[in-house]
Amino acid sequence: MARLRIKDILKTPAAEQSITVKGWVRTFRNNSFIALNDGSTNNNLQVVVDFNTTDESILKRITTGAAISATGILVPSLGKGQTVELKATQVEILGDSDAEKYPLQPKKHSLEFLREIAHLRFRTNTFGAVFRVRNTLAFAIHQFFNEKGFVYIHTPIITSSDAEGAGEMFRVTNFDIANPPKDENGNVDYKQDFFGKSTNLTVSGQLEGELAAMAFSDIYTFGPTFRAENSNTARHLAEFWMIEPEMAFCNLKDNMDLAEEMLQYVIKTALEKNREDIEFLSARLEEEEKQKPQNERSEMNLLNKLQFCLDNQFERITYTQAIDILRESNHNKKKKFQYLVDKWGVDLQSEHERYLVEKHFKKPVILTDYPKEIKSFYMRQNEDGKTVAAMDILFPGIGEIVGGSQREERLDKLEARMTEIGIPHHELDWYLDTRRFGACEHAGFGLGFERLIMFVTGMGNVRDVIPFPRTPNNCEF
Ligand code: 4AD
Ligand code: MG
Repeated sequence: MARLRIKDILKTPAAEQSITVKGWVRTFRNNSFIALNDGSTNNNLQVVVDFNTTDESILKRITTGAAISATGILVPSLGKGQTVELKATQVEILGDSDAEKYPLQPKKHSLEFLREIAHLRFRTNTFGAVFRVRNTLAFAIHQFFNEKGFVYIHTPIITSSDAEGAGEMFRVTNFDIANPPKDENGNVDYKQDFFGKSTNLTVSGQLEGELAAMAFSDIYTFGPTFRAENSNTARHLAEFWMIEPEMAFCNLKDNMDLAEEMLQYVIKTALEKNREDIEFLSARLEEEEKQKPQNERSEMNLLNKLQFCLDNQFERITYTQAIDILRESNHNKKKKFQYLVDKWGVDLQSEHERYLVEKHFKKPVILTDYPKEIKSFYMRQNEDGKTVAAMDILFPGIGEIVGGSQREERLDKLEARMTEIGIPHHELDWYLDTRRFGACEHAGFGLGFERLIMFVTGMGNVRDVIPFPRTPNNCEF
């Protein structure tokens, strides 16, 4: 008999026809009522067994965590929160679970504890909801770009260039690291390594993405990205997923418009497709926030916050305007920032980003035209000689969710900037070729996928929105 998914069963009216369902036992009450879950929804199917006709040896094996198959007919349910339940005529144990040893007890566990048993946390309501939303968002991103005619490009994971120039790369080598070959000067001789040169895991697919945009006009990448930044925060991962669209014949404004449209599209899709999951996560968050003092709680619940994002345009201001707002803020005057804002040119800390978004504007903000010193070499230089055509999108509770820019398409300006900050031209000769042959105005951005999921699910730690997080000192599973 074909297996039906619980999500579909719960939408089916009661019927005489026999059906089969398979899943994992969440709870078993009174030797009669199984709450069964198969991951298709957070709602369990109530399976009712008749303990008079079911073998004692089977009843004993219906334990929390066990995999079972149940066959029977759907009948109207008297229990609250469900219209149907399965009156089982046959229960088969597929995989036992020793209730004494099973780490997931039918009670509330802390997120920290669940992180330690990340191999089992998929089976909880919270992580079930989070990873179904993650799936929807991934699919929605592909759908958004596909509908717009963008070409999906797979950029390399192993590379020899540092796209961001920040030197936060994980090295890739085949050497016996205790004993690598040396050159005549005593330095490690990467010419003898697997690729004949020094290589790393990619920090961004942008530079290769730009090459493709110079042929297909509109492209995007969606892949894993690696950063060896030693920041142990709730928003940083050493391995994260990034979406990077790149568009030819596109300026900074077009770039911002696209990013805003994309974010609203995918949030709307998640609200439509995963309404129940998001309602569950919204309630979870409200419960969690009750632990916090009143003034630290969000003014809006998760559902309202997401809806608010769809109904309101993002605020757009320049870095210079942002610095003025921050400098003049009471927060700054009363020295409530850890890093006080005094002069133009400083990099914004996440406390500043969050002040702008959560306290000042109370909505997503796009900051543009940053000082060139705090941004990457490839960003287009503005007329003022001080700033570049950069844009960062800041979200409530998250801070930076998107970073992008119009690119410097003028060969002389790009080369001059590379010289200024010490990037050898020969290393990026292939990149410079796009400025030599058919250069044009172009722009793009990078969306941190996990930060987007944090926003949509209301989860406060990036470790809880990726199945198996990689962070400093942690690479389990
Ligand atoms: O601002 P970033 O470093 O920009 C780039 O990599 C550009 N090449 C993007 C482009 O223009 N094509 O990173 C982009 C986004 C950030 O805004 C943030 O959301 C996310 O990637 N991000 C991280 N997410 C999780 N953990 C980390 N360590 C992250 N670093 C960046
Ligand atoms: Mg950035």
